Amino acid sequence: MNYPEDIVSEILLSEEEIRKKAEELALKINEDYQNAPLTIVCTLKGAIFFFADLMKNIHIDCRIEFIKASSYIGNTTSTTGNVTISNSNFEIRGRDILLIEDIIDTGLTYYQLKQYFKAQGCLSCEMCVLLDKKERREVPIQAKYVGFEIENKFVIGYGLDYNEAYRNLPYVGVINPKYIK
Ligand code: PRP
Repeated sequence: MNYPEDIVSEILLSEEEIRKKAEELALKINEDYQNAPLTIVCTLKGAIFFFADLMKNIHIDCRIEFIKASSYIGNTTSTTGNVTISNSNFEIRGRDILLIEDIIDTGLTYYQLKQYFKAQGCLSCEMCVLLDKKERREVPIQAKYVGFEIENKFVIGYGLDYNEAYRNLPYVGVINPKYIK
């Protein structure tokens, strides 16, 4: 079964715009982490597409790891505030950690991940995020690398889901409200 043709009411970011931004951000990361013991961490699941595009343009010596951080449950369109962290069985002590995220909203996920990595003895913990919904922030935290600041609209595609669907759309779009239950 295909997705409905009108699943998005507006395409916010095309594949091309995202690809260019990933190149741009990767350039900065390449410069900033020249001599660092860097581990780039993809936060599942939403960041997978952005992570892949970014990594194609990262040319420095680094490790890649995956972590699961989840704050939304089922078919809700807002965060629960409770962040669960799993799949984090990799070396953190003495490493510079760069988290890759699809979106930062309330900031609670990043805040809690940062606390977690610090407690495990990382040298530093920064974030590179594709989308920043700044106006929704509940904790004073800011990603070091931001792709695009966006308004408070529910977005899907390029890794972002609604009730686990639509992650595989190749662009970022605003979900048509008629499909929100
Ligand atoms: C999304 C996103 C971030 C978090 C941001 O993850 O990938 O991890 O929400 O929201 P916050 O700033 O309000 O904490 P989600 O919990 O939807 O999991 P997913 O990546 O598996 O879709």
